[in-house]
Amino acid sequence: MCGIFGYVSNKKESLGPILIEAAKRLTYRGYDSVGAATFDGSKIDLRKDIGKVEEVSVRYNFAEMRGQRGIAQLRWATFGEPSQVNAQPHLDSDGDMVGAHNGNVVNNVELREQFIAEGMTVRSQNDGETCVHAVERYVNRGYEFIDAIRLAYGDLEGDYAFLIGHANDDKLYAFKKGSGMVVGLGEGFTCVSSDLPSILPMTRQVIRPQDGEIVTLWADRVEVRSVKDGKLIIRKQETVTESMDAVQKGGYPHFMLKEIHEQAQVARELLHVLNGNREVGSLVGKMKNARHLYFIGCGTSYHAALAGSVFFAGLARRAAIPVLAPQFIAQYAPSVDHDDVGIFVSQSGETKDVLNALAAAEGRGMACFGLANVVGSTLTKATSFCLPLCCGYEISVPATKTFTNQIVTFLYLAYRMAGRDVRELDRIPELMEQTLEIVTPQIEAIAKEINEWNDMYCLGYGVTYPIALEGALKLKEITYAHCEGMLSTEFKHGPLSAVREGFPVIFVAGPNDAPLIISGINEVKVRGARTIVIAEEDARLRANGDDLVVIPKSDPQISALLGVLPLQLLSYHMSVMRGFDPDFPRNLSKTLTVD
Ligand code: G6P
Repeated sequence: MCGIFGYVSNKKESLGPILIEAAKRLTYRGYDSVGAATFDGSKIDLRKDIGKVEEVSVRYNFAEMRGQRGIAQLRWATFGEPSQVNAQPHLDSDGDMVGAHNGNVVNNVELREQFIAEGMTVRSQNDGETCVHAVERYVNRGYEFIDAIRLAYGDLEGDYAFLIGHANDDKLYAFKKGSGMVVGLGEGFTCVSSDLPSILPMTRQVIRPQDGEIVTLWADRVEVRSVKDGKLIIRKQETVTESMDAVQKGGYPHFMLKEIHEQAQVARELLHVLNGNREVGSLVGKMKNARHLYFIGCGTSYHAALAGSVFFAGLARRAAIPVLAPQFIAQYAPSVDHDDVGIFVSQSGETKDVLNALAAAEGRGMACFGLANVVGSTLTKATSFCLPLCCGYEISVPATKTFTNQIVTFLYLAYRMAGRDVRELDRIPELMEQTLEIVTPQIEAIAKEINEWNDMYCLGYGVTYPIALEGALKLKEITYAHCEGMLSTEFKHGPLSAVREGFPVIFVAGPNDAPLIISGINEVKVRGARTIVIAEEDARLRANGDDLVVIPKSDPQISALLGVLPLQLLSYHMSVMRGFDPDFPRNLSKTLTVD
């Protein structure tokens, strides 16, 4: 996701330490590379390289950097591998402007080609450099700097925040589209950053610019203008009073709840990245030609792999074998070879069980690809190509946004395999937002009602089966109650004996599975169970179940994805009601690097 920070002082000073401290506070947004640029009079001093801020700032002596204006950037690689040339900030062709961004510019490749054709010096693959040239293009055509920035905004597609300065100037300029950005006003300085916590140790006076607004920063004031017509906009200055801890959680009491609410936004960013990623086509080609296709993961990532295989069957008529990573070694590795393709799924990219399976597959010559959130992790390096999940940091141990983006990725790949229009998926983020809004009060009430139970089931069928497994895992992880996820039709083959008066049984029903789920509901209801059904509005389900948690109408695959959101919320609220910390459940670890 990357992080940017800009600073304008009323005097020439030692900016290095200020930039280093701000960069450290933004480290959570990326640590593939770090860079700093200062403007000392009309001279630009730019230093950057791969590595963490602690190492790079020492190696390049950032501390000695002086000037009145400065920019720092932390990179989480998406466009262009982590390297010095792809590190940000970036210069324009003749080196008199410097800029940096966070987020993704999805028409990066097309724009780079245009800039090269227009004779500009393009040095990297990185979309941050594209932002700089996008401004340069209009400066070259004779526009005033601020107008060149306004026009560049129109050319840059995606979700990002961008910061730029010109050598012969005393200001910095920033704008954002779909990404966070906060401006700070202090004694003798102004600053701008990707997030609020990074500027709070410096000042609590802030302005929050909106999409489509350009901020000009002088040392003693800022000005906000509309990108559309260049007119001044009045944005009120706020005083931030919350504690640092509350701010890091974005005002949410826990990271888990914050990350649940980030899901729509990261899905939006992921879809942009997938649309702009040329490697996806070649991956789809390889999967089409594969003899056998395996989706391999552990825990939550395995549930996404299972959902992926249901999507591939239903949408693309293509069998893909979902398998728990350690079991892949025993059950499939001995028989795989060069004609087979494996997709290794992992949030962390470091799960030992997954890496063991990868080694076994590679030993047999299988074509191995990855799906991971942590760019630069072992999985991203060990596979021939690894799709990023684009979720940024997921701090809470129970995976939420990385799971839904794994699901979105598999859905996207299934659409591509099927030759369907992927633009149909663009409605997902909005549907996710609607779901969270609609279900939250009802889920809180249900959580209260069933919280006394330490044993329950979560059932799904077909496309919702992996969702039921994931919901049960969330409940187990953070409420410490036993909750088993199961195929709804299997419940009658044994577990039914657990049912007694009030026993909670949760059903996740796909839009085509109502009749079957109704049988399941009644089988447990007549034995006293309390049934909670998560589904699209359906009079039959409403009449049969005790509670119907309604999710918005879509289609079976998207509906399954939406179905996990109430389950995440249910586990979160039950965990909090029990007095546990859902972010850091006992005994568990976010990254399991052991056998
Ligand atoms: C651990 C975590 C789970 C996670 C699993 C796989 O057990 O506690 O939440 O699903 O590892 O992790 P991965 O990083 O490979 O997705």
